[in-house]
Amino acid sequence: MELLEVQHLSKTYGTGETAVCALQDVSFSVPKGEFVAVVGESGSGKSTLLNIIGALDTPTSGKVFIDGKDIFSMKERNLTVFRRRNIGFIFQSFNLIPELTVEQNIIFPVLLDYQKPDKEYLEELLRVLNLQERRRHLPGQLSGGQQQRVAIGRALMTRPALILADEPTGNLDSRNTSEVITLLREASRTYEQTIMMITHSQSIAQSADRILRVSDGVVTDLGRYSD
Ligand SMILES: Nc1ncnc2c1ncn2[C@@H]1O[C@H](COP(=O)(O)OP(=O)(O)OP(=O)(O)O)[C@@H](O)[C@H]1O
Ligand SMILES: [Mg+2]
Repeated sequence: MELLEVQHLSKTYGTGETAVCALQDVSFSVPKGEFVAVVGESGSGKSTLLNIIGALDTPTSGKVFIDGKDIFSMKERNLTVFRRRNIGFIFQSFNLIPELTVEQNIIFPVLLDYQKPDKEYLEELLRVLNLQERRRHLPGQLSGGQQQRVAIGRALMTRPALILADEPTGNLDSRNTSEVITLLREASRTYEQTIMMITHSQSIAQSADRILRVSDGVVTDLGRYSD
């Protein structure tokens, strides 16, 4: 089953002489549970693509279906709830809430949805993300890599069907990077989560089920990595 379907997506920023065509007629689909790496040069349109798929930005034309739902046809309020329940975002900038502790930041999306946090899963995430000793700390008291791991925990806590990650390991050392990638893959396998991850790392791209290359707003499906 296709979890994500993108149809003829185009995005132009600005108008006239300063217009930038960030995406040009992009179409592809991703089956449930697949781990997709998105690669491409700086400025090629990768973040634009992920932001539109996550409904953080709107396309100039085209459609995005998540789990069969045409997300841009939904009413704003329904879309907000749908996004909270089905999509986990991991950005390069962490957007943690400075007044909340590590633990509170991670369970925040669950509380927003008036649900009860799964304590066992929270413990598992804190353990795998190596944040147990920092659970009562505030984001301002953490290193960049630790903050990034909190953001990853927060994205996984609701067990979203789709995880959108924009260079999620950009601030991590190689050991933490491989631990985080392993965590994401295991979570996606256990809960059949689909992952789209922008990365500049060749080794991460090589471990993906599929690689999409973005070049000047055009997306090419490179399939699985092979020598
Ligand atoms: N809000 C915006 N207004 C105008 N132009 C924008 C806006 N956001 C992005 N762009 C332009 O769209 C193009 C694609 O940007 P995007 O952020 O998607 O690139 P990227 O592939 O994620 O690059 P990087 O690897 O550097 O993060 C760039 O030329 C950029 O200047
Ligand atoms: Mg980007």
